[in-house]
Order: sequence, then structure tokens, then C-alpha cells
Amino acid sequence: MGCALSGSGITPGKTILEFKPGPSAENPRVPKAGARHGGEGVETGPFPLVDTQKARIQESWRILHDNIAQVGIIVFIRLFETHPECKDAFFLFRDIDDLQQLKRNKELQAHGLRVMSFIEKSVARLDQEDKLEHLAFELGRSHCRYNAPPKYYEYVGIQFISAVRPIFKERWTPEVEEAWQSLFKYLTATMKRGYYKEKAKLGSNKSLALRKPGTGSFLSSI
Ligand code: HEM
Repeated sequence: MGCALSGSGITPGKTILEFKPGPSAENPRVPKAGARHGGEGVETGPFPLVDTQKARIQESWRILHDNIAQVGIIVFIRLFETHPECKDAFFLFRDIDDLQQLKRNKELQAHGLRVMSFIEKSVARLDQEDKLEHLAFELGRSHCRYNAPPKYYEYVGIQFISAVRPIFKERWTPEVEEAWQSLFKYLTATMKRGYYKEKAKLGSNKSLALRKPGTGSFLSSI
């Protein structure tokens, strides 16, 4: 298959790193026992970023800012290339198979910008951990309603890193990469907790609705 991103000036993300930020010289933090659980084995643990990593993310976001529209599209086009089944969650463009056409699709462009705007808000809240957690948790809850399965969330971070790396050229260092990996790992784990919380809520509502047929508005809301 030809790559929908050829000609974009950005190297396609065929070689994809796995997210494995662990303790390092820069960040010796390791998850503690008793970390928060949100269902199905998802745990967030303590906030994973140390101050130097927050600064690296804030600094790189300033560099990235002018490219966010382009990055938002690339991230999702690559997600659909590597995991075409993700497209099914998007009512507005799930029937468009041609990735070149999809790249020009206004709905996809708007969606890419919404995702980048979420990243921007997250970067702005790196020093407000409660707010950041709330933001990602609620996003996870809304993704449950969108029917967007958690197993794909981490691929968004992987594709984000692979899309932005060429923009930075030699300014991209292993330390910058590790900081972004840690942020995405935290965001996606928190989103997953939100997703499972919402799923449990919908599930219990559903059983109520099934016990009292005809009375629940719940089924029409999913
Ligand atoms: C780190 C991962 C992800 C982030 C940060 C993210 C972020 C967002 C944001 C900010 C929105 C806008 C609406 C809202 O605020 O609720 C959104 C909508 C949506 N996302 Fe995600 N998303 C992620 C992963 C995924 C994945 C993997 C899928 C599909 C499998 C997906 C499917 C959707 C759908 C269907 C919508 C609604 C689209 C619309 O109505 O226009 N998302 N996402």
C-alpha cells in the first residue's frame, strides 16, 4: 500500500517505538504499590513527570505549535493505516477508504485539531496535576460513549512522537522523547480509567433498564 503521507515532508512512521519509559537518570520515579486502579488492571500511579521533563515538554510544544494542524492529521492517518479498524468509531468519515482523500477531509482536520488542543491543554496543566487528571479522565469517559476502545489509545502517542520527531531534527533528544512518552503513558492510563468507569456506569444502568423494560431512556442514549 502506498503511504498517504508521502509528500508531506514528514518521514512516515513505519518504525515505531514502543512506549517503555521506566526509571532513568533523569526520572528515577517508579510506580508505587497501591497506585490508583480504575478497572481491568489499569493503574495510573503517581504523576510520572519530574520538573526537567515538564520543562522539556513545554519547550518542545512552543516549537511544535505552528505545526499542530499538520501533526493532528498525520497522527490519525497513520493510526488508520496501521489500525484501519479504528476508523469505524468515526461516523463522519468511516466510509472514506482512500487515505489521500481522508487527509483532505474537513472533519478529520477538525478532529485532529481537537486532539491537538487537548494536548495543548495538558501541557498547560503539567503543574496542576488534579486538573490534568480530571481532563484526561473525562476524555476517557467520553471515549466510552464514542465506542473508541482503550487498546488503541497508546498508538496515538506513538504516532504523535513519530510525527513530531522530524520537525525537531537534531533538537529531538532521547530525553525529550522520554518526557513525551511519559506524558502520553499517563494520559492514556488515565483515559482508560475514565473509559472503564463510564463503561461500568453504563453497564449498571443497562441492567436496570433491562429489569424495567420500557422505562429507561438509557438505551436510546447509547
Ligand atoms: C491519546 C489518545 C486520544 C486522545 C488524546 C483523543 C482526543 C480526543 C478529543 C480531544 C476529542 C474531541 C471530543 C472530546 O473532547 O470528547 C476526541 C474525539 C473522538 N475520538 Fe479521540 N482521542 C484519542 C484516541 C482515540 C482513538 C484511538 C479513537 C478510535 C479508536 C478515538 C475516537 C474518537 C472519536 C470517535 C471521537 C468523536 C469524534 C467526533 O465526534 O467528531 N480517539 N478524541
